Parts: sequence; structure tokens; C-alpha cells
Amino acid sequence: MVQNNIRALLSKHSVIPVVNFEHIEQVEKTIRHLIEKNINCIEITLRNNDAFKCIEHAKSMNLPNFEIGVGTIISNEQITNCKDLNVDFMVSPGLVEELASAFEESNIPFIPGVSTPSDIIRGTQQSWDTFKFFPAHLFGGINALKTYEQVFPDIRFCPTGGISETTFNDYLNLKNVISVGGSWLTK
Ligand code: 3PG
Repeated sequence: MVQNNIRALLSKHSVIPVVNFEHIEQVEKTIRHLIEKNINCIEITLRNNDAFKCIEHAKSMNLPNFEIGVGTIISNEQITNCKDLNVDFMVSPGLVEELASAFEESNIPFIPGVSTPSDIIRGTQQSWDTFKFFPAHLFGGINALKTYEQVFPDIRFCPTGGISETTFNDYLNLKNVISVGGSWLTK
């Protein structure tokens, strides 16, 4: 199962809200608000000291049809924490070989980040085929993805970074895009 079946997970969610919670009090309200908008997943980023507490709190809501992912993963230790909390998916802003075994062995769907052709080749060397394209707006956006479609026709992307209410549909209309992510969904 490539990347612990990340494609199946992403294909259920055309948009992925990326949220950096600053207070645990924001968690429940934000998730309820997303569910009202029929968005059934969230990527909670590891960008402050309370991030894992917020993820734990989100998991404790026990929402059977809502998937809780963790973003900004840059270490093996964070992958272990994600496994302990039984999170639904993991996202990394980059792609490094040092994290490959921990991602694979976690049994949790995961999506590493790429921005250049060399990054994509590094990923395919691991037998991976689905990547976060990040930061999309700084690495060529839609035009880069159109070129990657020619060069890497089997690869699928979840672009993130600088995507907005007015541009997300243009990304979703590309053949090689499964989902798009970003913070615009909760602002
Ligand atoms: C991410 O981690 O994916 C980005 O920080 C989200 O980018 P955005 O805030 O530009 O949507």
C-alpha cells in the first residue's frame, strides 16, 4: 500500500484546512464549524508547544467521520507521537530519507512535501507517488503542476501554500491534483 493508502484518504477530501491552533479552546469550535461546512478533515500543524495537546483534544472528540491529520512533521519523534495519538494522516513540508522508515512503519497514511523535480524523483525512489506541493505559490503554482503532469504523469499532488478561496478550484481542476490544502478555509 503506497504511503499507507494516502490516495484513498485524500480522495475523500477535496479541501484540507491547515490550522495552527494557538489555544486549546479554539479546537472544538473550529472543528464543529468545519463539519457545518461539510468539511470532514483538518491538518493541525506542529508550530507551537501546545500543538500535540490540541491534537489530543481533537481526537478525544471521537468524531467517527472526521479525519484528524498532523502537519509540519520534521522528526521521527513527532511520527512516534502521532502513532501514540492514533492520528488519521501525517503531512511533512519536505521529503527526507531519514524519515522514510518511520513514516512507512507507522501504518498511518502520510504525504511528504516536494517543490522541485529532484524532490519528486527522491520520492519516487522510495516508491511514493503522492506529494504535498509546497509552497505552491512560490514554486510555480498551476503552471508548475501542468509541467509536472507531462514529466511525472503517475504522480498526484496536494498543493498547499498561498491558495485562496478564489484560486483553489483552478488547482482542483488539474488532472494531477487530488486535494488542495490551506489556511484560507478557517480564516
Ligand atoms: C501549510 O503548512 O500547508 C501552509 O502553511 C498553509 O499555507 P497557507 O497559509 O498559505 O494556506
